[in-house]
Amino acid sequence: MCGIVGYTGPREAAAILLGGLRRLEYRGYDSAGLATVEGGRLHLRKRMGRVSELEDLLARRPARGGCGISHTRWATHGPATDANAHPHAGGRAGMVGLAVVHNGVIENHARLRAELMAEGFPFASETDSEVIAHLIARALETTHDLLEAVVTILPRLEGTYGLAVCSASHPGLIVGARMGSPLVIGVGDGEHLLASDAAAVAPHTKRVVYLEDGEVASLTPAGLDLAHRERGPVAPRIDRIDWHPDQAELGGNPHYMIKEIREQPTTVVDACRGRLSRRDATACLGGLNLSPRALRRARRIVLVGCGTSWHAALVGEYLIERIAHLPVEVEYAGEFRYRNAPLDDRTLVFILSQSGETADALGALREAKRRGHPTLAIVNTVGSTIAREATGGIYLHAGQEVGVASTKAFAAQVAVLTLLALYLGRLRHLSFSDGLAIVEALESAPGLIEEALKVEPIVERAAEQVATARTALFLGRDLLHPVALEGALKLTEISYIPAHGYPTAEMKHGPIALVDPQTPCVFLSARSPLYSKTLSSIEEVRARGGHVITIGTDGDRVLPALSDTFLPIPDAPEVILPLLAVIPLQLLAYHVALKLGRDIDKPRNLAKSVTVE
Ligand code: AGP
Repeated sequence: MCGIVGYTGPREAAAILLGGLRRLEYRGYDSAGLATVEGGRLHLRKRMGRVSELEDLLARRPARGGCGISHTRWATHGPATDANAHPHAGGRAGMVGLAVVHNGVIENHARLRAELMAEGFPFASETDSEVIAHLIARALETTHDLLEAVVTILPRLEGTYGLAVCSASHPGLIVGARMGSPLVIGVGDGEHLLASDAAAVAPHTKRVVYLEDGEVASLTPAGLDLAHRERGPVAPRIDRIDWHPDQAELGGNPHYMIKEIREQPTTVVDACRGRLSRRDATACLGGLNLSPRALRRARRIVLVGCGTSWHAALVGEYLIERIAHLPVEVEYAGEFRYRNAPLDDRTLVFILSQSGETADALGALREAKRRGHPTLAIVNTVGSTIAREATGGIYLHAGQEVGVASTKAFAAQVAVLTLLALYLGRLRHLSFSDGLAIVEALESAPGLIEEALKVEPIVERAAEQVATARTALFLGRDLLHPVALEGALKLTEISYIPAHGYPTAEMKHGPIALVDPQTPCVFLSARSPLYSKTLSSIEEVRARGGHVITIGTDGDRVLPALSDTFLPIPDAPEVILPLLAVIPLQLLAYHVALKLGRDIDKPRNLAKSVTVE
């Protein structure tokens, strides 16, 4: 997803902007650029490709100055080209003096473009964002005040934006504005930063101000003014970043994805820290902002998410229905926000999102709020839009997840949903001893995940075969059905091998047509009452010469004899099986992608946080 970094202060802006863009690279992008102001001139440099290409350009043509803005673009309108890269210059031919970077989508850009072209403004790109630059330039011709010019044109923009502007006529000033796409200010000593993600400002300051929708900021080295478009001046709310930027370093791992897979024992410890009560055999969830009485009154729960978060929600459905006896509906965020689902007034809506900025998930939250439902966020990023707009919620505390393919966030979401199921169950019928069993299962999970990670050498060998496959099937029952879906998504999104996940019983209703000796069929089949039924499905694949990979309980004597590859996981209470069974699948996707030479942490076409619909 696009990234924005701005700086104004006593230091050279270009180096700080480039460092910030590098910290946002993990979000996925296809071009990069920056603009600085110095000596009454605007220096604009931009390139398609990686930040390193921009650095090469700057080595040849430096951009001086202590004030500047920069951007990494994830193409929405127009392909990745130098001209379509941001910043975009605004102004009539020969009078360019300002630059704009923009995240989001301007839905009425075509009409605005026609209006501006009719007045003689020259367009150099195919993007929607360029209209913003010319609108501001046109307003500046009369106001001569950059902040006023920006505020004047914002009502003309239909759609979403997180934008930053700088101008040669206003040295040292950056104006930022937010509507639907995140912006955060870094408050330094004698300097200020502006970014779309706190990771870009963290190396310089821990003090941050998250902009709300409708707010406009004007930053100079010594000044920070915030105002809402309608409500007027706003006192900046200074938060503190609670993680160290070095946490997001590789720590000796070759990729962020494998680092984050290996971090999962710690991830589950952090997700449960301070939230398990042996005394009451329940979970302690302080941020729900709903009384036990209100939670007891709930008659239904809707879990909403996208991608991996949707898979975690599906695990949550099995857990909450089984442990708390509450009906649960799992919804794709992009569908929920428009399908007008019939919800009664005793329905709680939970939004799951690692980034807390996914546009579809944010839209679903706002739709649920519009209909008057308590909306609870299960998110990782502190201070993210979804976290701030929800009525309450539960943070994952998984630390920054850099790999585009989500791994440790899935573990944290599943752990938190297990805590939620336990808490809701103990509000209702769940006995002390049954509650304590779940507490103990969660306490044992980190050690068991550590054990499960030892399967990596076997997975590495299995990856040889899978890397040559045209497709692959992932099959699981009950609590392991969502894990099968997640395994398929992992393989698909980083190896580009189209993989399919199904409930095991569904295989014979169609997917079995894919079975042949070249198609790996991955069965999740930990010991459970349905174990024998899985064996039957495995036999059906073997009878057709299929390639069988099974994930089962260590010590199982039957499965290895039926499998081309058996991937053992430790024996464990059923409630934490999803946390264990996903490990070999994450590792399999990683090693297959490695063998295929894929860009592990930044797979093609993908973004870490999809902040556009
Ligand atoms: C997961 O590996 C994917 N990168 C993607 O499906 C992701 O889970 C989805 O975009 C939701 O992101 P969120 O959790 O930040 O809302």
